[in-house]
Amino acid sequence: MSLKTKDVVLSEDRPKTLLLQKHSDYLASYGLNKNDYEYCMTEYLRMSGIYWSLTAMELMNQSSRMPKEEIISFISTCQDSESGGISACNGHDPHMLYTLSAVQVLAMYDRLDAIDVEGVVKFVSSLQQEDGSFFGDKWGEVDTRFSFCAVMCLSLLHRLDAINVNKTVDFVVSCMNFDGGFGSKPGSESHAGLIYCCVGTLSICKRMEVLKADELAWWLCERQLPSGGLNGRPEKLPDLCYSWWVMSSLSMLNRIHWVDKKNLEQFILACQDSETGGFSDRPGDIPDPFHTLFGLAGLSLLGDTSIKRVNPTYCMPQETIDSGLLTSNLFQ
Ligand code: FPP
Repeated sequence: MSLKTKDVVLSEDRPKTLLLQKHSDYLASYGLNKNDYEYCMTEYLRMSGIYWSLTAMELMNQSSRMPKEEIISFISTCQDSESGGISACNGHDPHMLYTLSAVQVLAMYDRLDAIDVEGVVKFVSSLQQEDGSFFGDKWGEVDTRFSFCAVMCLSLLHRLDAINVNKTVDFVVSCMNFDGGFGSKPGSESHAGLIYCCVGTLSICKRMEVLKADELAWWLCERQLPSGGLNGRPEKLPDLCYSWWVMSSLSMLNRIHWVDKKNLEQFILACQDSETGGFSDRPGDIPDPFHTLFGLAGLSLLGDTSIKRVNPTYCMPQETIDSGLLTSNLFQ
């Protein structure tokens, strides 16, 4: 039995050039009306929304259009004084993912002094389990994405010494599959988003040698479809965010040239909304800040020089990483 490839067809009238000004206008006006339906419904992920928007603006050299002081004071109010963790929004539970987003934003602003850093270190390290895995929060879900959030967060704070790095690596390695890929926990199927998390964890922990680099890169480049877009697993439709999860992983593996870059660029450009600005998951869909970041970051990885260079592990501007902020005290 042969399976029909799921894919999209790029129309002739699709956007073919990068609409930077439109994307900057889109993000600058996003959330200005706090009563907007979409804004209200996304409260549960507000902190990551701020990270996606600010990073996209930074990559376009337009971050001065974001309300910096309002963002910094919002982040301080989201830190829980008891656990030290940071939540997505006031009144929500602290969580590893939103703690990372807050730290990324403050690192870009060079304002880590706005939070209790030792509280964050205590929160993240308290979520490590005996087998090296991490809970996302006090409710106990284990996922390799939380291992990545933990090591990225602590490396931004120069405090990787607060966790057991060897056990962290052992747990990630226990999630490696026969195809070289990784899932969310041992035995889970390979998934490009979780591959990014696991390769990113190993990159920060300087343990890339444990990877089956060729098998993994082969699985990753097979995610490219005839439209040029990438999917996250076999038999799935392409989605712009996989331009990031797949390409950043290939970049960390030094095998970015294993995909057809020209075709991928065409797909990414086709995901722009030429009326409102912003990128969507697939051509013709509604744009959002999440896909806008990954569209721009994907183009940056492909070498578009009208966008700042992005770091493939941290998904932050390379210049932030180069500022010396991220020299981990564990490996000095
Ligand atoms: C797809 O999820 C994406 C992932 C599993 C990776 C998520 C990565 C993080 C949370 C780490 C922090 C990220 C950055 C950029 C610093 P999905 O649930 O949408 O998968 P699906 O496409 O299969 O539905």
